[in-house]
Amino acid sequence: MVFSMKSVLEFRARKGMAPISMVSAHTHWEARFLADSPVDCVLVGDSAATVLDGDATTLSATPEIMARHTAAVARGLGEPLQRKLLVADFPFLAARRGQAAAIKTAALLLRAGAQAVKIEGIDGHADIITHLVQSGVPVMGHLGLTPQSVHTMGGYRVQGRDTATAADLLRQARALEAAGAFGVVLECVPAALAREITEAVGIPTIGIGAGADCDGQVLVMADLLGLTTGHRPKFVREFAAAGEAARAGLAAFHAATAERSFPTAKESY
Ligand code: KIV
Repeated sequence: MVFSMKSVLEFRARKGMAPISMVSAHTHWEARFLADSPVDCVLVGDSAATVLDGDATTLSATPEIMARHTAAVARGLGEPLQRKLLVADFPFLAARRGQAAAIKTAALLLRAGAQAVKIEGIDGHADIITHLVQSGVPVMGHLGLTPQSVHTMGGYRVQGRDTATAADLLRQARALEAAGAFGVVLECVPAALAREITEAVGIPTIGIGAGADCDGQVLVMADLLGLTTGHRPKFVREFAAAGEAARAGLAAFHAATAERSFPTAKESY
């Protein structure tokens, strides 16, 4: 098993050093591959709602659903305190129901095996982020295209294209650092803005559709392996052709069943 980065302290220390690789995964089998890979750290994203369940948005993810995926991924990554840094998403509205509810969600996710949580946005819940951090829950921010705000943004669109919205994203990134976040995901923002934010804050930035100058990059595992069907955003690079392998495997199974060449005697009891 390969161990890359086990704590938020190691994560923070990588700022300005080697780029951080992060993969968003939802299942135990994905985690087994990640445990044996050199990928630095893992996110249990609420993209589980879209990638696994086929929902159009991530709004259907709940704290309980996220805790279940987090536990499955944590088991796949190996022994507690020895496995890679595991961050779990705070789902839709979980940071907006007051401190007690936020603490409850954080407890669910950390007891399921996460070492940290990721929270979209900051305006209106900076105090919750600070309260979680002061309660021993490391928090990663998420700015730019924040999918839980899809209805406010009018769809999945690049954010921070004009001077005013770019300045506002820079302000939010600084506010996140001040609130105690240990890192921030920048999703779908112009590369020049991501570079400016990366230079302006002392915490690592992790880009997804945010250019090459962030302190690290994150992709969803199903996307980067080529397992996703349908629309593929511009920022997704398929680093493997697992989808093609899956199609070939299914066709071969069907053919072998049809011609009765499977199972053989060796595969039977
Ligand atoms: O839900 C998710 O997988 C994410 C990443 C794409 C950053 O938030």
